[in-house]
Amino acid sequence: MKTTHASSLEDAAVQLAKATGAEPAEIRQRLYAELRARNANRGLGYLSYAGILPLDLPEGTRIVVLPDIHVPAHDKLAMWAIKAFLKDYQPHILIFIGDVADVFALSRWARPPRVVANQQAELDETRRLVDSLIKVSNCLHVFYIMGNHEDRMLRYLTDPAAGLANIVDFSTREPILNFHGLMGYKPGDPVTFIYDMAERGGFGGAILINGDLELHHGHIVRPHPGVSPRADADESGRSTATGHTHRVGMTVRQTTNGELRAVELGHLVDVRHPFVAYANLSNNWHPAIGAGKVVGGKVHLQPLPIKQVLVNGRPKMALTFAGKVYRTPDR
Ligand SMILES: [Fe+2]
Repeated sequence: MKTTHASSLEDAAVQLAKATGAEPAEIRQRLYAELRARNANRGLGYLSYAGILPLDLPEGTRIVVLPDIHVPAHDKLAMWAIKAFLKDYQPHILIFIGDVADVFALSRWARPPRVVANQQAELDETRRLVDSLIKVSNCLHVFYIMGNHEDRMLRYLTDPAAGLANIVDFSTREPILNFHGLMGYKPGDPVTFIYDMAERGGFGGAILINGDLELHHGHIVRPHPGVSPRADADESGRSTATGHTHRVGMTVRQTTNGELRAVELGHLVDVRHPFVAYANLSNNWHPAIGAGKVVGGKVHLQPLPIKQVLVNGRPKMALTFAGKVYRTPDR
């Protein structure tokens, strides 16, 4: 069912109810009761959230999760395939699971010689790409979980100027250097940025959908695909979906505490880009996205690997879902 783009979290609740045939009042209450309670002392309403956000989504809600894009070091060919998929799948909820922006200009790692970096240009390009993905997906609401790369900005400031880093804006009570503000989003925009309890990006902020699946950027790194989120799920005792490792894998198992699912969602980086000089073939990285649906109260989320294919001798990126192929167009 086609829906129009929601302009606020409240609109999103009403439209989600319509799209899934659920009761609007109940969905609205579910969608932002927690946000309201926990953000009561903040001026920006639903634009940002600190901690683990419990989110109850109705039966039939379609969800797409986009892992580590690392703009401007993202894979442009893969983006075409993803946009074709989003246009067709029309997720109700779009989730960015961290490291959307590389924030290379503020990296503390040794910079390769002759590589030029401009933080404002990086932010501008990130905003443009995020907006284009939101638009093509026609989603009702976006959750942007902060990654460790987004946190580079605060870390950069904290080191030489900790006294400035903890100053908050008088009217909004937000830190003066906050990522959502620098991206140019405002209260009322259909996007919520998820930070950890200390207002940092990286590892603590999460969304817990239907008490069943926790999505966070990721903090455990194991060398083999599927093992990092599995260790994460063992630690938290609940099913988990993560980015961060850039690997793709999934495990589903029964434990004495019930079913535990662990989904590792890959990355969307152009591994030849000079900003990701640390990429190499032994990393076990693979491009992918996550797609799923709420069925029986649970989020059935699966990783969709994006593979390089040759069409008439030209490289394209392609993903398949529900028997359909989505790939870079011919031009
Ligand atoms: Fe990453």
